[in-house]
Amino acid sequence: MRLAGLLAGTGGPLKRAMVDVVPTTTARACANIALVKYWGKRDARLNLPAAGSLSLTLEALVTTTQVAFDAGLAADELVLDGRAAAPAELARVSAFLDLVRAAAGIATRARVASRNQFPTASGLASSASGYAALAVAATGAAGVALSPRALSVLARRGSGSAARSVFGGFVRMHAGRDGDSDGAFAEPIASPLTERARIAIAVVGGGVAKAHGSRDAMDHTAATSPLYRAWLELVPRDLAAAEAALAAGDLEQLGAIAEGNALAMHASAIAARPAVVYWQPATLAALAEVRALRAAGRAAWATIDAGPHVKVLTSAADAQPVAAALRGVAGVTDVSISAAGGPAAIVTDREGSHRAS
Ligand code: DP6
Repeated sequence: MRLAGLLAGTGGPLKRAMVDVVPTTTARACANIALVKYWGKRDARLNLPAAGSLSLTLEALVTTTQVAFDAGLAADELVLDGRAAAPAELARVSAFLDLVRAAAGIATRARVASRNQFPTASGLASSASGYAALAVAATGAAGVALSPRALSVLARRGSGSAARSVFGGFVRMHAGRDGDSDGAFAEPIASPLTERARIAIAVVGGGVAKAHGSRDAMDHTAATSPLYRAWLELVPRDLAAAEAALAAGDLEQLGAIAEGNALAMHASAIAARPAVVYWQPATLAALAEVRALRAAGRAAWATIDAGPHVKVLTSAADAQPVAAALRGVAGVTDVSISAAGGPAAIVTDREGSHRAS
């Protein structure tokens, strides 16, 4: 926030007179589902991915985040879904805000409130939509104008998958090279499939908290899995094939790549020592149902992230019957359907929230 930023270091009567108005910027971002997964880093400090990835942004999974840089604060504050965040979450957000403060040339602390509007009990709380919304809201509040690409690079510093949630529709993430932070950014991919694609989200086990966070699990896989090297060799091939499928509007081809890629990612994690196994019995039952749906002529291909839930790539025409079939799988507790979502965006810019002086 430019005003507080300018005032933060100045002190004196000017500061006291003008600090009453604390502009608040609100932004929203949608979560995304990777069809070619990001699983492994080459640099933890800059959060640089070891390989590229490809995703679909989902309109049904939205995070809304409000940021106000307030010269009256001694420390950053973070409220998540109405509750004060845990110290580790606050520390991670604070480190991210430090990047925004550095770009703005300010030292002012911020008040952040973030809310996930995800389907009931989805268990899909997402760092992707969270850090994309935070990147947009915090830069807006700090008065830092960034290009969409630079916003994607910034969001990546918060969470790798967040770089993709800056954009709508299908999105490719470039790995970049070596230590070059600016080379690891996402960008949208136009495709005739954007209108047609749907994701059916089958929640397994009532959305219980996952046993291994994706960040630790991908590091552990990279460090110990004998299949990790094979995973890294596979990703560029899957990316090229997925992009060709998107260009051709070939949902079947895209789906086959997405399902194979997700299973390969999980194979690498399962082979880590000790193993990282996200699947529950209902995960396998849902995978079997997806294969049965395909055998019956439906468009249905599964993908799974760092948890037990199964997300099914399908078409607008087949989404309802696919969701109905998934609802019939024992252990699947909730199924929702999402179309492609739009880019992260500011909802309200620098609304003045007035404080009594
Ligand atoms: C399985 O983006 O959460 O969802 O960069 O450490 O925050 P960090 O990891 P994160 O990892 C996402 C892993 C995944 C696959 C994907 O979204 O590509």
